[in-house]
Amino acid sequence: MNLQITCIPGDGIGPEIVAEAKKVLVKAGEKFDFTPVFTDILMGGASIDVHGVPLTEEAVAAAKAAEAVLMGSIGGNTTTSPWYKLPPEKRPEAGLLKIRKELNLFANLRPAFLYKELAGACPLKEEISRAGFDIMIMRELTGGLYFGERRTVEENGIRKAIDTLTYDEKEIRRIAIKGFDIAMKRKKKVTSVDKANVLDSSRLWRAVVEEVAKDYPEVELEHMLVDNCAMQLVKNPAQFDVILTENMFGDILSDEASMVTGSIGMLASASLNDTKFGLYEPSHGSAPDIAGQNIANPIATILSAAMMLRFSFDLDKAADEIEAAVQQVLKEGYRTVDIMAEGCKQVSCSEMGSLITERL
Ligand code: IPM
Ligand code: MG
Repeated sequence: MNLQITCIPGDGIGPEIVAEAKKVLVKAGEKFDFTPVFTDILMGGASIDVHGVPLTEEAVAAAKAAEAVLMGSIGGNTTTSPWYKLPPEKRPEAGLLKIRKELNLFANLRPAFLYKELAGACPLKEEISRAGFDIMIMRELTGGLYFGERRTVEENGIRKAIDTLTYDEKEIRRIAIKGFDIAMKRKKKVTSVDKANVLDSSRLWRAVVEEVAKDYPEVELEHMLVDNCAMQLVKNPAQFDVILTENMFGDILSDEASMVTGSIGMLASASLNDTKFGLYEPSHGSAPDIAGQNIANPIATILSAAMMLRFSFDLDKAADEIEAAVQQVLKEGYRTVDIMAEGCKQVSCSEMGSLITERL
């Protein structure tokens, strides 16, 4: 069986970590009888350098033609890179927003999980980290402030910028359904996060989530205001199972949740539409400061590839084995520099990829 996978190596450490994930997929294929067929496309800064735009129509078509997309990371240093002298719609991030919209990837899954082996890296007090946590952030990805109308005007010599936050009930319902579906496979709890004490969009969000909840009587639903959620994530992260939230809140809370795991280099993500198609990428950024040094942690990308096998190809066994191989390598004490701890063996990006590949 051939798996048609479009790869976006991207910028910064992207090409290095995607190379390791490809290695793992090829080996998993030998064992589980599939052949990944990779087609690389350019996006972000890499595309700007060649084509002058962060994502071409040809690249979008190549992504649409595939069964899944595996992405590294895009973007550069926002203060020093020449990409950030370009108008906003020509910058690297515009490519990412465009591919999300074009492929209708409205559901963004960001797991934040505290690895037993890495509990020491958790920045929270030991009495909190000891309880462990396993959170799935379900972030709406194609609506809200990110895609609302925006403009900057000048009125009577005063500059004014306007961004709009819009959600219709269909957009809310489809992400809520995904959130409840995922909760059914987990601990059956949904925390819907909003700012319903201020925003109309949040009041509609809450009402629609309540309606969807009626179809999932087994799932416990609670509502939480976003500022409280930010606080609860550091106070008692073990209380969460699925956090369901809109685009901007999800952007912020997912960074916070990943940081409390102490190892953002470990966290995968999936962006899904209504079909089996998905885009899979690490939760971390392009880390331009360490690009090209072969020291980045490829595990988040490797785990994203595992998510791809699970969600887009129903190859759950192969995904399980990749996850087990990652855990095994950690148990043996191998660490990239970002998660290095006393008594462990420090390895490079490519060594980490090889170690995981060998354990499959
Ligand atoms: C993310 C990133 C993007 C976002 C940026 C790069 C546009 O922060 O995937 O969380 O805000 O969605
Ligand atoms: Mg973000």
